[in-house]
Amino acid sequence: MTIPEGLQRILATANDVVVLTGAGISAESGIPTFRGEDGLWSKLKPEELASFDAFLSNPELVSEWYQHRRHITRESKPNAAHTALVEMEKYFRRFTVVTQNVDNLHRRAGSKNIAELHGNIERNYCLGCRKRYDGADFDANGSFRCSKCGGLIRPDIVWFGEMLPADQWDVAETAAATADVMFVVGTSAVVYPAAELPVTVRRSGGKIVEVNIEETPLTGFADFSLQGSASNVLSEIIDKIKELRGVAKDTE
Ligand code: OAD
Ligand code: ZN
Repeated sequence: MTIPEGLQRILATANDVVVLTGAGISAESGIPTFRGEDGLWSKLKPEELASFDAFLSNPELVSEWYQHRRHITRESKPNAAHTALVEMEKYFRRFTVVTQNVDNLHRRAGSKNIAELHGNIERNYCLGCRKRYDGADFDANGSFRCSKCGGLIRPDIVWFGEMLPADQWDVAETAAATADVMFVVGTSAVVYPAAELPVTVRRSGGKIVEVNIEETPLTGFADFSLQGSASNVLSEIIDKIKELRGVAKDTE
């Protein structure tokens, strides 16, 4: 892949960079995406698994489904795309990863400035007393009922019909409003309000670079559309950044 001249100029001069990621960035780590032929939502009904009503009417089923997804993500590792973003963070004055993923892989890879728009399946809390069951604590509890009050323990993620965490959304919106460039990586760009963020970037004069294996509703709107897997494309981008910008911030 040749990186277009115009994009090279942006990579060389941008100060403020945002990356919006979706399930596609974790696909190469072995985590299934949601839409498309092999996507989770082609076989399962979101309203039966990913809503508060579903949880209340069948807590065992919903809890077991999330525990299954937790096992998949724990057995997987961040891939070259996640790692490239960790590297990129070192080259720009401001660098924010805004993710729709709940899989914790950006954190595990080592990205520092992350807004998690849809929560994180490694965090859980009791609906009754708000006691937290994070990471291994949830497994150690041995049940999806709270050991303190017997209440239901839910994952700290955003289900259909729920509001996004206000603090994370604020970080994302502020970053989008000031970004020189936003990379939109591995997302079908159809779930709102996350899908609004590229519009905010453009309205404030920033550029949009899409990275995806196929076209999405955003492709026509993007300034640059790089077709390929997230790991290949982002590896090339970070190599080009190194070539153009030289030494990273923290090694200067
Ligand atoms: P989708 O499953 O809708 O989209 C995944 C995107 O990744 C598609 O556009 C694929 O073409 C692309 N893709 C797949 N493999 C790729 C690869 N190796 N490299 C680059 N791109 C690749 O997932 P999201 O857009 O993340 O909501 O879905 C958004 C939200 O819908 C999710 O956060 C989830 C879901 O319901 C909640 O959990 C609240
Ligand atoms: Zn409790």
